Amino acid sequence: MGSLDSSGGTLQPYAAMCGLAVLLFIFLTGGTEAFRICAFNAQRLTLAKVAREEVIDALVRILARCDIMVLQEVVDSSNTTISLLLRELKRLDSARHYSFLNSSLLGRSTYKEKYVFIYRSDKTQVLNSYQYDDSDDLFAREPFVAQFTLPSKILPSVVLVPLHTTPKDVEKELNALYDVFLDVSQRWQSKEVILLGDFNADCASLTKKRLNQLLLRTEAGFHWVIPDGEDTTVRASTNCTYDRIVLHGQGCQSLLQAAAAFDFPRSFQLTEEEALSISDHYPVEVELNREAHSVQPLCLTMLLLLALLPTHLGPVA
Ligand SMILES: *[C@@H]1O[C@H](CO)[C@@H](O)[C@H](O)[C@H]1NC(C)=O
Ligand SMILES: *[C@@H]1O[C@H](CO)[C@@H](O)[C@H](O)[C@H]1NC(C)=O
Ligand SMILES: *[C@@H]1O[C@H](CO)[C@@H](O)[C@H](O)[C@H]1NC(C)=O
Repeated sequence: MGSLDSSGGTLQPYAAMCGLAVLLFIFLTGGTEAFRICAFNAQRLTLAKVAREEVIDALVRILARCDIMVLQEVVDSSNTTISLLLRELKRLDSARHYSFLNSSLLGRSTYKEKYVFIYRSDKTQVLNSYQYDDSDDLFAREPFVAQFTLPSKILPSVVLVPLHTTPKDVEKELNALYDVFLDVSQRWQSKEVILLGDFNADCASLTKKRLNQLLLRTEAGFHWVIPDGEDTTVRASTNCTYDRIVLHGQGCQSLLQAAAAFDFPRSFQLTEEEALSISDHYPVEVELNREAHSVQPLCLTMLLLLALLPTHLGPVA
């Protein structure tokens, strides 16, 4: 205790400040893992499908990676499929809390599916949600939009806009998605928006030329973080970037840490056939930090300065 005082009593306040800065540094940057948002076309997810042990095992391990997951192709008129998933998630890690938010069943024919957000309710909350009013019937499955809190001072909340396009109308739907962006950014006065899902934005469904002419490509401010060329399909015979994540807003972009498709067959060591029993798509994932990257070098510089200061500025004892 107080051993530093023998050097003249000037070092201690600086040492304390330095310690405080280190703690602050750890609090702001390290010590806290990134927040992961995912989208997964779970290919006709029915109760019968999740009742299969190998399917639910893989699904739960995929879900456990995500703080918010946007599931698509959930084919269930009740909540039982999702309830089963939540129960198994809870069994995997009882310290975590999960909740969900679902759309109604959407579709033009008798085949209908819903969007379901499954989220860590111990890390994030739903602030708002609404079903986009698709009065011109531009979408087969119009986005079910939701705003979530984030554990970040820079970005306290983010809007998620899911879309699963129908393969024969990809260009029309993706241009209409720009209108959904305008609608939600005006409604909730927020331009921090993530558009995500199985856009079918590649291969036979959308040529490279038309892809680059989309409003979401030509209008400024949209950042496609799953790059063209990244394979989001399970089959070895296909290589298409169907599933996408598009960020909009300063906050989102400054916090971006990583984005990629999750090759679950490789991670879980599944054969192609085994993997296809879960889905023909990979999930896509984006990780957001709590603080912008540029904070880190600044903190380090401040720490260095603090460490050097006493020898120059301390009054002579
Ligand atoms: C299903 O879950 C949603 C969201 O929690 C809830 O609003 C709805 O009432 C539930 N419906 C049934 C039939 O349980
Ligand atoms: C969620 O699903 C349940 C069961 O199908 C349904 O009763 C409820 O209306 C759905 N929620 C919304 C917001 O449509
Ligand atoms: C898919 O194609 C892209 C080029 O468009 C290539 O860079 C990538 O390695 C391919 N991926 C696989 C898994 O074949």
